[in-house]
Amino acid sequence: MPSENTQKTGRIPEQGLPQDTIIQELEAKLRRDLTYSSGKILCSMCTDPPSFAKQVYHKRLEKNLGDPSLFPASAELEQETVRMLGSLLSNPTACGSIVSGGTEANIVALWAARNLARKERGEVVVPVSAHYSFDKAADLLNLKLIKVNLNSCYQMDVKAAEKAISSETVAIVGLAGSTGLGVVDPLHELSEIASKHGIYLHVDAAFGGFVLPFFKELGYKPLPFDFSLPSVCSVTIDPHKMGLAPIPAGGILFRDAAMCEAVRMKVPYLVGGETEQSTLLGTRSGASALAVWALLKHLGRSGYASIVEQCLGLTWKLVEGIQRIDGLDVVTKPTMNVVGVKSGTVDIRSVFQELRKRGWAVSLFPDYLRIVIMPHTKPLHIKSLLEDLQRILENLET
Ligand SMILES: Cc1ncc(COP(=O)(O)O)c(C=O)c1O
Repeated sequence: MPSENTQKTGRIPEQGLPQDTIIQELEAKLRRDLTYSSGKILCSMCTDPPSFAKQVYHKRLEKNLGDPSLFPASAELEQETVRMLGSLLSNPTACGSIVSGGTEANIVALWAARNLARKERGEVVVPVSAHYSFDKAADLLNLKLIKVNLNSCYQMDVKAAEKAISSETVAIVGLAGSTGLGVVDPLHELSEIASKHGIYLHVDAAFGGFVLPFFKELGYKPLPFDFSLPSVCSVTIDPHKMGLAPIPAGGILFRDAAMCEAVRMKVPYLVGGETEQSTLLGTRSGASALAVWALLKHLGRSGYASIVEQCLGLTWKLVEGIQRIDGLDVVTKPTMNVVGVKSGTVDIRSVFQELRKRGWAVSLFPDYLRIVIMPHTKPLHIKSLLEDLQRILENLET
C-alpha cells in the first residue's frame, strides 16, 4: 500500500491518495488511543466535549482571533465569553482572553505581573504544589520561583509565603484546585498578605474555576477563591477542563483593563495596522472561544452545577470504596473531584503498573496515585475500578 511507504519514509506521497484510504488508515492507527467513553481515562482533567460544542467548533475552524479586524464579530464574542467567565468568578467586567490552556494563561499572568512591577526580572512566590507551567513561565520571563512548603492540609503555608516575600517579589500565586490533590490554598489569607505588601496575586483556578463557583448552591461550604477577594489581580480558568469545552480552551482573566494592557502588543501589519494582541500566540483559533461561548449559554449555571454535583457524588463513592480496601487510603479528604490514593502496605508504583495492565490510566505522583473524576466517568467505571483495586491489593500482598 502506498501509505505504508510514506509511513516508513515520512514523506508526503507523490500522488495524493483517495480520502477513503486515508480515513481507513487513520481509523486503524487511532485505535491504540484511549477513549473517554471507555471510562478508563481517570488521569486527565479534560473530557469528551458535548456534541453541540464539537459542532460549533467544527463549523468555525477558519476563524482567527489573532486577526480581530478580519473577524470583529468573533472577537466581540470572545470578549462576551470572557465577561461570562468573569461573572462566574465574581467580576462580570473582567478583561482577558480565551487562550490555549492553563499553561498559556499562567504564563500570561506572570508576564503581566512582571511588567506591572516594571522589572525585567523578579521573584514569584508559589506553593510547591503549583503546576509546572509556572516553571516554564519563570524560565521564559527571567523570573525566579520561590517555592513555599505546604501545611498539614496540603495547602500553601501562609506564614512561609509571607516570609518568602522580598523586594524582588513581583507576584504571589495561590491555587484553587492543585494539580495533584485538587486542594484550595488559603486564598483569603494570601489576599490579605498581597494587599499588605502591595503585591500582585494570581490564582490558578484552571481546574477549580468550573467547580468552586457551584459549591454554595450544591450545599457545600463555599471557598473564596476569585475576584471577590480584593487583592486577586488575575485568575486562570480552563474551559477545556471542567468547562467541558473542546481543546484548546484556557482562560486568563484580569481584574481590569489596565492589568490586561500590561501584556498588550500592537501588531503593525494586520488589517488597518491598529490590531492589538494580549496573548502569547499570534494566530489562534476562534473556534475555541466560540465553542466556549456556545457551551456556557447551552449548559447555563444549572447545567454546570449538575455536572459538578454528579462528579462530586462519584468522588465520595470512590473515597468510600478506597477506604474499604485493606492497604489503601486517600491522601486527604478531597476538596473536589480529584482524589489522591496512597498505600501503607504496598508500593504504590506496583498498584499503578497493575492498573495499567488492566487498561486503567491514572496519574502517578511520587507518593500517591491521582484519580480525577470527570464527567465521562460513570458509576459502573468506579465500581469496576474498585473491584480491580481490591484484586490487585490481594495479589500484591500475598
Ligand atoms: C492547576 C493547573 N494549572 C494549569 C494547568 C495547565 O493546563 P494545560 O495543560 O491546559 O496547559 C494544569 C493542568 O493540569 C493544572 O492542573
